[in-house]
Amino acid sequence: MKAKEKQIAVLPGDGIGPEIMAAGLEVLAAVSQHSDFSYETEFLPFGGRGIDEAGDPLPAQTLAAAKQSHAVLLSAIGGPKWDNSPRRPEQGLLEIRSALNLFANIRPTRVSDIQIDRSPLKADIVRGTDFVIVRELTSGAYFGKPRSLKTDEAIDTIYYSQNEVERIMRIGFDLADQRKKKVTIVDKSNVLATSKLWRQVAASVAAQYPEVEVEYRYVDAMSMAIISQPANFDVVITPNLFGDILSDEAAEITGSIGQIPSMSAGEDGPNLYEPIHGSAPDIAGQGIANPISMINTVAMMLRESFQEGELAQVIEAAVDATIKDGTVTPDMGGKFTTQEVTNHIIDYIDGAYTK
Ligand SMILES: NC(=O)c1ccc[n+]([C@@H]2O[C@H](COP(=O)([O-])OP(=O)(O)OC[C@H]3O[C@@H](n4cnc5c(N)ncnc54)[C@H](O)[C@@H]3O)[C@@H](O)[C@H]2O)c1
Repeated sequence: MKAKEKQIAVLPGDGIGPEIMAAGLEVLAAVSQHSDFSYETEFLPFGGRGIDEAGDPLPAQTLAAAKQSHAVLLSAIGGPKWDNSPRRPEQGLLEIRSALNLFANIRPTRVSDIQIDRSPLKADIVRGTDFVIVRELTSGAYFGKPRSLKTDEAIDTIYYSQNEVERIMRIGFDLADQRKKKVTIVDKSNVLATSKLWRQVAASVAAQYPEVEVEYRYVDAMSMAIISQPANFDVVITPNLFGDILSDEAAEITGSIGQIPSMSAGEDGPNLYEPIHGSAPDIAGQGIANPISMINTVAMMLRESFQEGELAQVIEAAVDATIKDGTVTPDMGGKFTTQEVTNHIIDYIDGAYTK
């Protein structure tokens, strides 16, 4: 008998969003056929589609269904169509993170041996890179008050409470405990008061994880270290603003943003899973979007929200095999379509169960 069904709120979004979401869901259906994992999906408008259908990037019906779900699966949102709209699609993202209290954003950066040549870094520097950036997502410079813009002056405020720092530290230390047991704390504590608090709280949380090695780096030094010694890191914990910048730098060293998943988590309630890239309006509708980011996102959801690590592994192995044999979309130097890559990955998945 199949286990109790899991509810997944599906937000296909805009641009290439629906194309790669379809691919991710085909792969999810393929692995679940071979296992006990059983789920239901509910498709909901969000982003530009939310504006078109309900006049709101995060329609009330979408938020209500997301809150009731076990996981939220999002593709990507935005596009030129809404550039001059009074409410922009991207506002929906800030609103859903805040409404679901998703204060931790987790982004893996892994360069496997088969992808080494795609990295802009030299092979001997990038080999073995496998780290995760844990970025605080709902406070810091993007939310602090006061904030204002006048013609001759502007104000932004960085605010962190001890509680906000402590909960993100716990997420990062717990993760390191399950991985390579090393945490890198990023701050600017030689200048910023919030960074001094960040470091104090980090030290008190670290005392509760004696197995985990801790190092501290200033954000400027860290931005250099990500490209000079990326294989040295395991879990990197950063405030919101620094994490926004460092996580894009880290994505770049993998050689393609069309492969990387991410997860946003809170203390309770559903996590939100999404590829790190945008809606790629330049290639939308052409059938050539790289589905691997969405497929890896589905794997991350299975592992983190549904404790289906084995299914996640089967998907990731099928993705690796597909990249290895060159069945990839143009952004990765191939000539295959979204559907062809997806079919190929599903063939590898089916093959893994018929061996
Ligand atoms: N979380 C999100 O939904 C999110 C994130 C970033 C940008 N956006 C929005 O997306 C829109 C486009 O933004 P952008 O062009 O700056 O960034 P983008 O990430 O959409 O695209 C950057 C480049 O990467 C390529 N690319 C991205 N994903 C790809 C994939 N899966 N396969 C192949 N190529 C891929 C695009 O074709 C483009 O050349 C904007 O409206 C922006 O606000 C949304």
